[in-house]
Amino acid sequence: MKTVTPPQSSTNGTNDANPAKRTHFDDKGNFKVVWDSSIDVWWHEAVADVSSECPPVWMDAEDPLFMLYTSGSTGKPKGVLHTIGGYMLYTATTFKYTFDYQPGDVYFCTADIGWITGHSYVTYGPMLNCATSVLFEGVPTYPHTSRFWEIIEKYKVSKFYTAPTAIRTLMKFGDEPVKKYDLSSLSVLGSVGEPINPEAWLWYYRVVGDSNVSIVDTFWQTETGGHVITPLPGATPTKPGSACFPFFGVDVVLLDDEGHEIKGEGEGYLVFSRPWPGMMRSVYGDHERFETTYFKKFPGYYCTGDGAKRDKDGYIWVTGRIDDMLNVSGHLLSTAQVESALVEHEAVAEAAVVARPHTVKGECLYCYVTLAEGHNYDTALITQLKNKVRGKIGAFATPDFMQLAPGLPKTRSGKIMRRVLRKVAVGDRDLGDISTLADPSVVEVLFQHRPKEAKV
Ligand code: PRX
Repeated sequence: MKTVTPPQSSTNGTNDANPAKRTHFDDKGNFKVVWDSSIDVWWHEAVADVSSECPPVWMDAEDPLFMLYTSGSTGKPKGVLHTIGGYMLYTATTFKYTFDYQPGDVYFCTADIGWITGHSYVTYGPMLNCATSVLFEGVPTYPHTSRFWEIIEKYKVSKFYTAPTAIRTLMKFGDEPVKKYDLSSLSVLGSVGEPINPEAWLWYYRVVGDSNVSIVDTFWQTETGGHVITPLPGATPTKPGSACFPFFGVDVVLLDDEGHEIKGEGEGYLVFSRPWPGMMRSVYGDHERFETTYFKKFPGYYCTGDGAKRDKDGYIWVTGRIDDMLNVSGHLLSTAQVESALVEHEAVAEAAVVARPHTVKGECLYCYVTLAEGHNYDTALITQLKNKVRGKIGAFATPDFMQLAPGLPKTRSGKIMRRVLRKVAVGDRDLGDISTLADPSVVEVLFQHRPKEAKV
């Protein structure tokens, strides 16, 4: 057992505020602190005179509650601002209905608290419903691949919420790591963060849920605050891969390129035609950007940036981002963000990034780089470039594929035709119309430069 040594009365003279430098374990494993009376205080002394009552501070419903940064298509992150009344009302309500939360339920959401899912459905939604929750800090595969299932059995979890990436990762280990545990307490299984492919949906339903649960594929965004399209368990007949129908009060509309509403079956831009309580109120410090990003393309509608299909039965199938955004393992990032990390390297003159489908991550990064004069494209450079992106954005953004691009496919106005780059990334020569390219010959050169590992 670790103990804290009583304070030394004098300071260590350095006034070094970095706690890591002032603490250590001695030979016997005791925790030691070099006391610095200019900054250290004893907890019991600090709290001795403080009241144990903590009255709430009354706020206006429209006062800011928090902001959370999310990727912007220009590369500059946006501080999504949520407010007190609407956000709390919305997370409380969606939590209650989407998970059919009842007293006695044990709820377990695997999201990190630092992301919107952790805010809305680990913190606010469950706490506002006084829910019994399991909080988990760790990864699904350590120390073994049954970690989630073990926790569900141990705490008799009834409502479980995770991401398709985690489901696909765990699916790779087969049914046995799941079947070893008693998961009969489960009644609702949720999915969030990216489109869930029918194969993963069915595995989640049959193997984890023993074909005896409701699956709720919840579509929403940092900006929406809470679920906006979702089935309701036990009430909505589901289809694997469809987020089904709008939540109460949400008006889903599909628009074509000209902004006309698509009625009935069809595919288009996913937008909402009325506000709902949990919607973001502004981009922190830049209200104009809020208006431009979400309301300018189709005046009168909130634009999600996603595409969706409506089938003949009215079910909504979210197809993914239609702006320059990527969704890697449920993490949203912009092509511009990755491109600007790449061009920071002195060897890179120009970069273009697209998504390539990935069996576990949903999408992965496929990066094209054009080199500056005098640089060689070799494995050392590839590693440096991957590390550059990883260091600037995070481990989840590490590119899976890098490709040398002697030239990029650009229109005469200089816009990179990403649709062509997406085709090259998967080796698909069905390119459609490329007559607007300034130099169509660059496309064949790109096909020839595809890296070996991209050819599988
Ligand atoms: O593209 C959609 C995808 O994730 C985006 C929102 O990402 P973020 O703000 O990071 O929030 C993630 C957690 C809510 C959306 O624009 N997305 C989220 N849920 C789904 C989804 N795509 C399809 N189906 C979903 N259920």
